[in-house]
Order: sequence, then C-alpha cells, then structure tokens
Amino acid sequence: MADALYTKLREVVRNAGQDHLLAHWETLAPTRQQHLADQIFAIDFPLLTELTRTPNASQMRRPPAAHPSPPPAVPIESAGVADAQRTRATGATALRSGQLGVILVAGGQGSRLGFDHPKGMFPIGPVSNRPLFQVLIDYLLAIRGRYQASIPLFLMTSPATHDETIDFLASHQRFGLPSEDLYVFCQGTMPVVDADSGRVLLDDRDSVCLSPDGHGGVLAALKREGCLAAAADRGIDHLFYAQVDNPLAQICDPWLIGCHLQADSEMTTQVIRKRDPQERVGNVVSIDEQLRIIEYSDLSPDEAGRRNPDGRLTLWAGNMGVHVFQRQFLERMVTSDEGLAFHRALKRTPFLGADGQRVTPPLPNSIKFERFIFDLLPAARNAIVVEGDPVSCFAPVKNADTAATDTPTTAKRLMLDLYATWLAAAGATIAEGTRVEINPRFALDAGELATRIPAGHVFAADSYLGPDQHL
Ligand code: UTP
Repeated sequence: MADALYTKLREVVRNAGQDHLLAHWETLAPTRQQHLADQIFAIDFPLLTELTRTPNASQMRRPPAAHPSPPPAVPIESAGVADAQRTRATGATALRSGQLGVILVAGGQGSRLGFDHPKGMFPIGPVSNRPLFQVLIDYLLAIRGRYQASIPLFLMTSPATHDETIDFLASHQRFGLPSEDLYVFCQGTMPVVDADSGRVLLDDRDSVCLSPDGHGGVLAALKREGCLAAAADRGIDHLFYAQVDNPLAQICDPWLIGCHLQADSEMTTQVIRKRDPQERVGNVVSIDEQLRIIEYSDLSPDEAGRRNPDGRLTLWAGNMGVHVFQRQFLERMVTSDEGLAFHRALKRTPFLGADGQRVTPPLPNSIKFERFIFDLLPAARNAIVVEGDPVSCFAPVKNADTAATDTPTTAKRLMLDLYATWLAAAGATIAEGTRVEINPRFALDAGELATRIPAGHVFAADSYLGPDQHL
C-alpha cells in the first residue's frame, strides 16, 4: 500500500520536475507520509508551471493599456439633497427587507503588521482596546438594529488564521452576533515556489509551504463552502464586502447600497481621493471605458503623478477594499473564463533546505500567488465607482507602528478625529488631550450621536461610549 502510494507520488513529482518534495520520504512515519501525499496530490502542477513561467499571468490575460483615465464616479454624498435622500432610502429599504449579507475577508497573513495572531484580533479601539473583529461586528450589530434585519456575516479565514479566529470568536460569544448569522469559512492556498528555480518550497519534511490564495480566493471559497447557496436560501441578493483591516468601514452603508441598486450595478466599488501619487492603494481607472484596478506597484511614477490643470491628481481614485456585489454576479464569475487570474508577489519565506536545515532568508526568495477580488471589476455589468469621504470611512491598519502611515497609531487617530467631529457637532466639548471613542451601537453617525448627548456635555477624561452607556 505504502509502496503503491510512493510509486504514484514519484510519478507525479517527477512529471512536474519537483522530485525534491520526496527527499525526506523515507524518514517519515506513515501518517506523516500520508500528510505530505495529500498536499502533493492537491497541487495543480500544470497551473503552477504556467504561473511560474509566465512573467505575470494576470497581465498576460489583460494587457494594461497605455493610458488609463480617471473613472466616472458618483461624488461624495451631499447630505440633505433630495436625490441623495432617495438613494439612501433605496438602500435602507433593501436592508430592511433582508436583501443584504456581509462578506468580511480576514485570511491574510498580516505580515507587515507583525502581529502574531489573526489581524482581526488586533486591539484597535483607541480607548476600549476592542479588537478589529469586535469593532466591525459592533458596526454590523448597529446596522442590524437600525434596519431591524438579521444581516448575516460571511467571514473568510485562511489556514493561517482559521482555528484561532474560531476560538477567539467562540470565547467572546461572537461579540453578540447570533450563531445562525455567522458563517466562518476558510479560503484556499497556493504552494510557494523558489523565485529562481520554480521549485515548490518545503516547510517541513512532511509539508510544503502554502500561502493563502489572496482575497480573490473568496470567490471560490464562498462557492465551495456553501455560502453562496446559503445566501440564496436566505433571499440575499447583494453582498457588501469589506476587509478586516479597516475599523472605519461603513458596513452596509445605505447610501452606497442605494447607488449600487439604482445603477443596477453588478459590482460597486467605493473609492477615496488619493492624497499623494505614491499612496499605497490600488488605482481605480477606466481603460477603454472599462473599470479596472491597477495596483500601485504596477503604475509608473509618471502615470501616478499626472495632474489636472487645477493641480489635482488625474488618477485620483484609490481602492479601499469596499465593494457591493450582486450575488448572481459572483455565482456567474465562479465558473466564468473571465474569472480571477493569479498575480505573483516576491516575498520572503522561510523553508526547509535540501540538507534538512531550516533556512530563514534575509531577502525575498520566493513567489507567492494571489488572486485579487477587484479583478472582477472589468467583468461586471453596469459597474460603478462611488466616492467615499476618507475622514469617515477609511482607517487602514497595514503596518507596524514603526512605519509612518497606515499603522495602528494612525488608524486610532483617524477614529478619534472622526468621533471628535461628531461630538463637536453635537455641542459636546472634549478637554485638551482627552480621547473619546464611540461604539457604533451607541451612535452610528453624527445625527444619532446628537440625540444621545446632553447639550453642552464636557468630556474631562478619556471616555468610551459603549452600547449600554447613558449620559
Ligand atoms: P492585504 O493585501 O493588506 O494583506 O489584505 P494582509 O495579509 O492583511 O497583510 P500583509 O500584506 O501580509 O502585510 C487586505 C485584506 O484582504 C485579506 C486580509 O485579511 C485583509 O483583510 N486577505 C488577504 C485575505 O483574506 N486573504 C488573503 O489571502 C490575502
């Protein structure tokens, strides 16, 4: 039996030019041999060979045009204007009637943040220290309360984050989200290959190096894990998508949903105006009248730095990882040829060397393959771009505090600044150097806050306005 297994495996790795994967076979106990065999059989070697040889598979399939132009975009909501109110009401009606579900992607390895746990566990509440998962679930609970709808959360993990996420959420009773409204599902992985030789790296004698297949892996995972079917059963027609690393994400914002519905858009993308050309966000552009997102690393400095006569950036629209999808569009794309291609990224990956010793390379040594969810944009009918106000909806947590931007410190500052504006509008005063954090279940927005704060209230010390707070 073991011999038959080995013979079959040897044929597979030999055909793929990956014989080294069996270098330690003889030293493994049968269960560990089986583990390695399962991993090897799961690898799509022809695909891997194609991806390794091709400079950039995604570019091969969709060559970038020479001159991307700025996308047409719905401007920032003009509060109080009749049209805007109608749009918001359209979104609110869809929320109330249970047509919405939420996808939150939390499978990334969070390597830049340098936090030893899933990023969703990172304490981001400036005063409360609530973790990212809780901050976002609080927002969802507030929306569910306002619209009296049991909007479910489809939370994507990866093998790197799954078990810890499950335990963490269970030990906190899902931060109040009913169990029947939480679907935690795990994304797929791709083998990591040596950048020079294209050989799959071993992580141990019985396992290969695997990395999550990118946030675009959500498409296949939603289907495979039955989430698209569950959404259909629940009568959900639209899925709001956000990333776990944005504590200010306005989950299920009725204005954004209203824009999406009025345009009959299959995919709606919220963008923010870039502050400087080199900002590390994807660029939402229009090419041959088709919307696309070009990674910051794929845009030449000349293109990124182009300015209009008024001095503003020409390619101004930054991707913030917030989208709304028609469920049927996702269903269609799961099986479509226009689906998601893989991108290659040169990254540092520790591995097991040929001599059985662990190697920790000082520089990037490997290629990881990732799919990006935003590559769906060109395939979407009636796709639209909606501009968001960065002050109220974007606080990325990407880097460790040693970096200058997109750190926990900058994100907390953005949260506090937003709450300070609401408090000022509500007539409250915050003493110098004092921090006030607002849980969305206390107040979702400035308007709600104004109804909950006594006129002239003074915050003399750091305060956290939680769900059960009374002032
Ligand atoms: P990023 O691309 O910023 O990656 O993910 P990351 O893993 O969080 O951080 P680095 O690059 O290793 O430092 C953006 C969002 O997409 C999710 C992340 O969890 C985050 O919410 N993501 C990313 C996945 O869910 N799966 C992936 O394979 C990659």
